[in-house]
Amino acid sequence: MRDYHDFLGEILISEEQLQARIAELGEQISRDYAGEDLLLVCILRGGVLFLTDLMRHVTVPHAIDFMSVSSYGIGARQRSGQARINLDINTDIYERNVLLVEDIVDSGYTLEAVLALLRTRRPKTLRTCILLDKAERREVDVPVDYCGFTIPNAFVFGYGLDIDEYYRNLPFIGVVDLEKYESA
Ligand code: PRP
Repeated sequence: MRDYHDFLGEILISEEQLQARIAELGEQISRDYAGEDLLLVCILRGGVLFLTDLMRHVTVPHAIDFMSVSSYGIGARQRSGQARINLDINTDIYERNVLLVEDIVDSGYTLEAVLALLRTRRPKTLRTCILLDKAERREVDVPVDYCGFTIPNAFVFGYGLDIDEYYRNLPFIGVVDLEKYESA
């Protein structure tokens, strides 16, 4: 993998902006779930940095669990509109407050599949906390209860989001300059 500086178009959301907004989300969630039991369910792999930073700001006692979902791809950056659950949570969610933590919603198919599955288990509440909402790309209507940022339709990477599986570790959200990326 090449140095990301070779194809970074711009920094869309800085580390400081991300951390400030995540702190706000954590405080809002802590207020909303005060006195309630809470389970945060992170969707791997992209949501993992968001979860670990967010949970430090959630002051109500909470548990965590993980799911892995993949969309059936028809190309590296295209989706066919179906999602498959690869790894399920290992927690009984009947009558519990479940908050899904996800890095990005694009078409909405991943979230739709996860919500449909978890609803069958009759949680007390089931809500979503999404760091990045690519709202203009939505193909199915899914609820975004807590939203970090609404972003334009750009190819973004960093802070959990990969470019060809690399650079999830970057502390900011960058935009890929596709011309530069593909011309190397
Ligand atoms: C990304 C992201 C969401 C999904 C959103 O996951 O983390 O889960 O795509 O897209 P959608 O709204 O069009 O379904 P990806 O399949 O790239 O896996 P990853 O998190 O492991 O990178």
